[in-house]
Amino acid sequence: MTFTIAIDGPAAAGKGTVGRLLAAHFGFAHLDTGLLYRATGRRTLDGLDAVEAAQNLKAEDLKAPDLRTPEVGQAASRVAAIPEVRQALIDFQRAFARRSGGAVLDGRDIGTIICPDAEVKLYVTATDDVRAARRLAELTGSGHDVSYDDVLQDLRLRDARDSARASAPLAAAKDAILLDTSTLTIEQAVATAIAEVERVR
Ligand code: C5P
Repeated sequence: MTFTIAIDGPAAAGKGTVGRLLAAHFGFAHLDTGLLYRATGRRTLDGLDAVEAAQNLKAEDLKAPDLRTPEVGQAASRVAAIPEVRQALIDFQRAFARRSGGAVLDGRDIGTIICPDAEVKLYVTATDDVRAARRLAELTGSGHDVSYDDVLQDLRLRDARDSARASAPLAAAKDAILLDTSTLTIEQAVATAIAEVERVR
């Protein structure tokens, strides 16, 4: 059985958490596609060419401890605008999506470009304030010394770059279900997502 759930949305909207918990609920595999771009961006900070870094990405690159930092997030967003970088990462994502047993992928272009035929598409959003507060809590919780204003600016810069790029910009697929998590707890957001999947399953 193949069954694909595509989740897109801006930075820190809750895509990753919803994706992980949805996958656990249905016993599906989960791929945080942002990690592919973060690992590629991370390697460019070491001086590697972005396209080569994406073409030669290894499983161990996805385990680097600092992939979640704002600096790596910005590097990810810069390399993500390069069409050859995106091209290098497509086959892996599509193969993951069609693996037997079901898959959840979250990112920016999953419902539009990677899996336009996904059985369920969710577009997860939240207000800028809520997203910045959540990301601040995450970063300070893991020992990073950052301010609310820096986090907010970081998210807005990435969202603007991700939305404006010519190649696979951040966008909701026409048939995506909008899930605004601004006033929802994680449990409520996941329960809503589960109900949407159950409707088509
Ligand atoms: O999801 P996350 O914030 O970790 O993604 C980091 C960056 O990777 C995003 O800002 C975006 O530029 C890029 N990305 C992308 N397409 C995806 C997933 C992430 O362009 N499917």
